[in-house]
Amino acid sequence: MIFSCPDPALDPHFADKLLTLQREAYAVEADLIGDDRIPPLQEDHEAIAAPRVNWCTAWEGVDLLGAVSWHEHDDHLDIDKVMVSPSAHRRGIASELLAHVRDDAHGRDLVVSTGRDNAPAIKLYIKHGFQHVEDQEVPPGIWITRFRSS
Ligand SMILES: CC(C)(COP(=O)(O)OP(=O)(O)OC[C@H]1O[C@@H](n2cnc3c(N)ncnc32)[C@H](O)[C@@H]1OP(=O)(O)O)[C@@H](O)C(=O)NCCC(=O)NCCS
Repeated sequence: MIFSCPDPALDPHFADKLLTLQREAYAVEADLIGDDRIPPLQEDHEAIAAPRVNWCTAWEGVDLLGAVSWHEHDDHLDIDKVMVSPSAHRRGIASELLAHVRDDAHGRDLVVSTGRDNAPAIKLYIKHGFQHVEDQEVPPGIWITRFRSS
């Protein structure tokens, strides 16, 4: 597995692959929570190449198997998305991607939200030391759970 940190704003071919992966991966979360209004399924090329977003990606040859994105703040990093191709689940890819974000944090906390009913993601974050902060209904009908890790 090769890990790299490309910028989709600079490479339209990569942005295409990322959008395809995002749609495949987040269809899994939509099924789990029973609602496909989640933001990652609404995004287009422009949104995925937004400025000030960091990406780390996992590749097997030319196949993009996983990606994580995050924003930096002075005292913490906000993890926006964690996605792994359904064909490559339970191979430790999300865990490796989270480790890359942890390295980039240089001691700052990590913050992440996921669907309250997304059991695989919740288990992933708990396994990596995240603690439950709160549940929130945003937008109406969609419950998310926030986690923080120091
Ligand atoms: C959640 C997701 C990112 C996990 O990716 P992954 O590469 O399969 O995760 P890992 O292999 O690193 O798993 C690490 C741990 O997470 C938990 N986990 C992951 N998938 C799980 C599942 N289907 N069921 C139960 N626990 C699961 C386990 O504790 C696992 O450790 P273990 O394999 O030693 O038991 C992946 O399922 C995914 O892309 N889902 C769709 C998008 C999504 O929901 N993203 C997160 C919301 S922001």
